[in-house]
Amino acid sequence: MSGSHPVSRAILMAVGLLVLGAIVAFSSSTRLHQGFTIARLKATGSLPDITWMDLFRMTRPGTHFNLPKLATTPNPYAVILNPYSFAEDVSTGKALFQSHCATCHGANGLGGPVGPALQHRQMVQGSSDWAVFRTISFGIPKTSMPASNLPWIDRWRLVAYVKSLLMRAEVPIESTSDPGIRKLEPVRYEDIRSADQAPNEWLTYSGTYDGHRFSSISQITPGNVAGLRLLWMRQYNTSEPSVETSPLVVGGYMFVTVPPNRVEALDAKTGAVIWTYDRHLPDRLSVCCGYPNRGLAVLGGTLFYGTLDAHLVALDIGTGEVRWDVEIADYKTGYTITGAPLALKNLVITGVAGGEFGIRGFVDARDAATGKEIWRFYTVPQPGQPGAETWEGDSWKTGGSPTWITGSFDPETNLIYWPTGNPSPNFEGKVRKGDNLYSNSVLALDADHGTLRWHFQFTPHDLFDWDATEIPVLIDTNVSGKRQRYLAQANRNGFYYLLDRENGQFRLARSFAQETWADRIDSSGRPVVNPGSVPSQRGTLIYPSAGGATNWESPSFSPSTGFFYVSAVDLGAIYYEGHDEYHPGEPFAGGATQFFSNVRLQAAVRALNAATGELQWEFRTPTSIISGLLSTQGGLVFGGQLETFFALDAATGHELWHVETGGFIRAAPITFLCEGKQMVTIAAGHDLLTFGLSTEQRSGPLDLVHRRSP
Ligand code: HEC
Repeated sequence: MSGSHPVSRAILMAVGLLVLGAIVAFSSSTRLHQGFTIARLKATGSLPDITWMDLFRMTRPGTHFNLPKLATTPNPYAVILNPYSFAEDVSTGKALFQSHCATCHGANGLGGPVGPALQHRQMVQGSSDWAVFRTISFGIPKTSMPASNLPWIDRWRLVAYVKSLLMRAEVPIESTSDPGIRKLEPVRYEDIRSADQAPNEWLTYSGTYDGHRFSSISQITPGNVAGLRLLWMRQYNTSEPSVETSPLVVGGYMFVTVPPNRVEALDAKTGAVIWTYDRHLPDRLSVCCGYPNRGLAVLGGTLFYGTLDAHLVALDIGTGEVRWDVEIADYKTGYTITGAPLALKNLVITGVAGGEFGIRGFVDARDAATGKEIWRFYTVPQPGQPGAETWEGDSWKTGGSPTWITGSFDPETNLIYWPTGNPSPNFEGKVRKGDNLYSNSVLALDADHGTLRWHFQFTPHDLFDWDATEIPVLIDTNVSGKRQRYLAQANRNGFYYLLDRENGQFRLARSFAQETWADRIDSSGRPVVNPGSVPSQRGTLIYPSAGGATNWESPSFSPSTGFFYVSAVDLGAIYYEGHDEYHPGEPFAGGATQFFSNVRLQAAVRALNAATGELQWEFRTPTSIISGLLSTQGGLVFGGQLETFFALDAATGHELWHVETGGFIRAAPITFLCEGKQMVTIAAGHDLLTFGLSTEQRSGPLDLVHRRSP
């Protein structure tokens, strides 16, 4: 034996094996004949890219390779199809991938430090089943892609998984076998409507339609909040200083926006990426203040995303595929969308930004299924419409009044409460004499038709950039058996307001931060403006600053304490009047402003009695708070200041816990249940952080979590 040629010996042996296998596998005589044909092709060198051993394995009983086809088409790349490609093979393949391949290719094949991303990839080595199998089995010579020595069937399961990445859209989130990709129930309007009763998810920007940003989850309490630990973190490579997203959580998945143009689906338990959507943005956008986005809306199996180029995009929640994409306004004339849309019934409602560019604002409602316009309400009336008399001449055409933060909704009154921003130009009032309706107002719009039921203007003829784009918070009180339905707003102009939300009637206003522009608000709700409170050529000092006593960052209302929690700052600014000519898409502010920095500012989380506006407590911070607030049934208020994420006692304002996140917080926290455990998520700087209670004692960096004595 030792004298015979090793190659011919191997061939002989292999032919023997193959014949043996073929006899078992190809039970009919034609098949037997095909088996011999294949063996002959192989022996004569016509099948170089398939080994005898592979041929033999494919003929073994119980395997389902359609091998006979090779006899007529001797090209394994064309005819060999992976029979191990059922859902359970894909999920086994995924697990194998995470342990053997993810170190180089990244989790879920999204790309890693060494290996390329395999999602959506045009495979250099070929993407047929056989090509991918060979790449995995033999590696890629002269690169770090190694040959795998995993069992044969496992390599086929890896093929199944790698191909599922290529055809991401064809492996919908409904595939049931994979623990990471469970079935996702469509989100019904009723689910969002009763979100307060099912607090395990976070289904709309403020958590509930009433704008409370309150959760009835009570696992984390003042007693155990010191045990909060970072569970996972996801870092973004964005040019923006801070991610401002308020995530949605649906059935164990989290959906976030990342500035300037990305939407991501994550596993809420681990932060692992399920899919991403990146929008191609035009080069030149008219933005006043960075390229932020604050979140999404969800309805049915669709997510809704407003883009910086003023489109509304509907994405399949399972895959991130675009279902429809409609232009809401022409971005070239200064429109953008930065806020989260609001989804209700069969509608998606969105506002627009652009108050620094002389746009004409509006609130827009689309059919959630198709993107078709259902109604639109312009926040600046045109001649002939009620309110047109509050604009001088043609000034209405560039009147601003944008709608850039998410409104609230009351299913019982069927009214959408949408707040509006500053009139344009911001600081030069003499070119737009009048009250300038409906700037700096809250609008009550019929949900089905978009007709205006009532409006309330907080700052008529605004000269200070005091957008009323603060979240309208719907609060019910029960005074001696009589139910009062209020709309509460802590306004940028320094006053906390209560309105009757059925008819818009003014109930009360109380200052919650330092303000010098109005002595008081009269009984109709109109401010009594102090003489001289106007921007001037030499500059006028007025409180609050253009950034406002508070701003778009979400407040929170806790029905259990009855407190309205708001970030507040006592800070003035010097306002200068100037002049800008209007050019589409160009800044149109008509002046400027400068912070008044001679005095130390006072910033705080303030807890107001929601029914009276009286201050209950304050938690002072050295700089302004640009983070939203979240209150919980557990008795906590979460918020951020600079890079610190903190938890306060909702009843007293004492700080109970904080952590340094290392990123500037300009986002609102949310909370949800994941496998029955309460988690809290906040974006900070370029990171998305999720915290949960940990009972184990750990040491190391994560213990830089302090408990402060009250
Ligand atoms: C040590 C790092 C490393 C590991 C481990 C690794 N790969 Fe790779 N892989 C690479 C690199 C690098 C490439 C690209 C090689 C090149 O330059 O063409 C690659 C390429 C590939 C390709 C081909 C892409 C194409 O365009 O054709 C596939 C498929 C692939 N890898 C799958 C896997 C699978 C499955 C595993 C686990 C069994 C794995 N890789 C493990 C580094 C690795």
